[in-house]
Order: sequence, then C-alpha cells, then structure tokens
Amino acid sequence: MENRIITSAFQEEDTDNEQKLRPSNFETYTGQEKVKNNMKVYIEAAKMRKESLDHVLLYGPPGLGKTTLSNIIASEMGVNIKISSGPAIERPGDMAAILNDLAEGDILFIDEIHRLNRMIEEVLYPAMEDFTLDIVIGKGPGAKSIRIDLPKFTLIGATTRIGLLTAPLRDRFGVVSRLEPYTVDELTKILMRSADVLKVETDEGGAREIARRSRGTPRIANRLLKRVRDFAQVKYGGVITPDVANAALDLLEVDKMGLDSVDRKMLLSVIEKFGGGPVGLETIAVSINEEAETIEDVYEPYLIQQGLIQRTPRGRVVTELGYRHFNKNYIGGNENDR
Ligand SMILES: Nc1ncnc2c1ncn2[C@@H]1O[C@H](COP(=O)(O)OP(=O)(O)OP(=O)(O)O)[C@@H](O)[C@H]1O
Ligand SMILES: [Mg+2]
Repeated sequence: MENRIITSAFQEEDTDNEQKLRPSNFETYTGQEKVKNNMKVYIEAAKMRKESLDHVLLYGPPGLGKTTLSNIIASEMGVNIKISSGPAIERPGDMAAILNDLAEGDILFIDEIHRLNRMIEEVLYPAMEDFTLDIVIGKGPGAKSIRIDLPKFTLIGATTRIGLLTAPLRDRFGVVSRLEPYTVDELTKILMRSADVLKVETDEGGAREIARRSRGTPRIANRLLKRVRDFAQVKYGGVITPDVANAALDLLEVDKMGLDSVDRKMLLSVIEKFGGGPVGLETIAVSINEEAETIEDVYEPYLIQQGLIQRTPRGRVVTELGYRHFNKNYIGGNENDR
C-alpha cells in the first residue's frame, strides 16, 4: 500500500533545483491568470465556510504547471496533500486504502488520472460524491457490503488527456480547469525568477530569447535555461545575453520557433514522405519511430498551436507556414492535385 502514495511531493529529474524552481505560492506562480483568480475565490470561499474545497480537475499538455498548482492549492488551503498517480493504483483495494487513510480536509492528488481503470473509478464515485466507501467483505454468496464514512477530502485530478476520462468521473469534479500555453512575456518572467534562483546572471533579452524557444512551457524554459547556463559559464564568460542564448540554443539544436529534433523530424517526414499529408497519426508515428500517444500529447499541440500542422478528418496536414519554416515550396491543396 505505501508504495501507491508517492509521498515525496515532487518527482522531477534534478530534485534539488527543481524544488527551488517550483513556485510555492500564487505570487510566484506566473500566468494562468484566469485559473488562478478563480481558484483563489474557491479557496477563500471554502475557508470562510470552513469546508473542504470542491474536487478539482486540471488538464493540459505536460509541463504547464498542474502539479505545481495543486501543491499551491494545498498550501493556500493549509492542508496536507497526498500524491499518487493513475498507473500506481492497480486494484480497487489500493484506491480504497488510499481513501481510508485520508484526514479531514486533505487533498488527494492523482496524476495521470485518465489511467485509472473502470473498477477503480467506481470506488471513487461514492467517495467523491458522498464521502463514503463501499467495501465488500468475503466472497461468493456470503459476501457482505459495508459502507464506511470518509473524512471530507478534496480530490485534485491532473491529466494531459481529458478526452480519455469517462464522463461519470469528469462530471464529479466541481471545478474543471484547463491550463494554457504561456506567452513569451510570462515565460520571460518565469525565467528571470529561475535565473535568480539558480544564481546565473541573465539579462532580460537573454531570458526572452530562451522564452521564445520554449514552446509555451515553463518546464522546457527551465530546462533550456540550465543548459544555456552551462554554455554561458564554460564558453561565454557567465552572463546570459541574447547573443549567448542564441548561440547556445543553436548548439542545442532548438530552432527559432522552439522546435526540437523530433518536431522537425515529424514535419519533414510528412512533407517528404507523404507529400505534406493528409496522413494518419499512426503512420507518422511508425515513420519517425515514436509512440503515437507521445506525438499527440507532447509534440502535436504546440505544432498545431503555432499553425505548422492541422488536424483534418483524413489525417495530419503540414500548412504553408510549416513548409516555409523549412524554406520549402508549398504546393498546397489536395495531394491528388499535385
Ligand atoms: N506558472 C508557473 N510559474 C512558474 N514556474 C512554473 C509554472 N508552472 C510550472 N512551472 C515550472 O515548470 C515545472 C513543471 O511544472 P509541473 O510539474 O507543475 O507541470 P505539470 O503540468 O504537472 O506537468 P506533467 O503533466 O508533466 O505532470 C515546475 O517544476 C516549475 O518549476
Ligand atoms: Mg505533473
């Protein structure tokens, strides 16, 4: 049972720095203004009524701050947060044990909540709705079902794939919030703070160059900052200026739009092997040797947001902008006309 709850609050690569970079309050959590302002109201209202917060579902691409926000919510509510994840909860009994272990007001954070199976979800329904747990004792005709009361807790679910959540589960969340990609201004601000935490001298222009190439994602921004810092320290005298950032990012093969080698491979494969599309996701996945799910969750949202590819009923299509990004001639229209 203990291994179902991942108690160490944060599971990132470089734990020490990650902890420091992760904002711990709303003031340092930059951007997501709409979600943040609404959350503040719900938190204040719950505190005034001395109630637990309604269940919250956070969704959006990886690295936009779902885990971070959940931790901030817990700290603003002044309650404990217990952290688990969909794949870690294998049996209904695991779920029941986790729920039974909660104290009044606790937040239970379930990451990748779309990966809970149906039987486990069914344990959650009465728990979320009525704060009760139905347990079956024994097997066969002699089995008895008993109902136990749970403390009033708050479930925060996080997912990159809201489409995979079943309707009954989704409907049991009182608050459903979507996290959006960050603007370059917001990422610049995040990077200036991170540079401060990491004690690397960065001018705003340098931070902005990194921000521009971070695919709207704070996690990527912080990762690039650390790598650029290495180049700055070893090769360029320590300070991150726009020139230093640009030189380092070129060496890191992150291009002007923030595309990395996988993004480029994907776009070029559609252009070169499939005449620009339409081509199915699975076919693209095979041709570049990536998981279809990874492409859909991690790579494609940004490429679509930037207008480089489009999703059509018949498959993915590289846009004129996508062609121009590689200095290629766009022929356009239907592949049959070419
Ligand atoms: N609003 C923000 N302001 C400043 N930094 C942020 C913000 N959101 C996220 N970060 C930074 O980005 C990192 C990644 O955020 P987080 O782990 O919360 O993302 P996530 O949405 O939970 O990702 P995943 O879907 O992969 O679990 C954090 O460690 C934090 O440093
Ligand atoms: Mg997370």
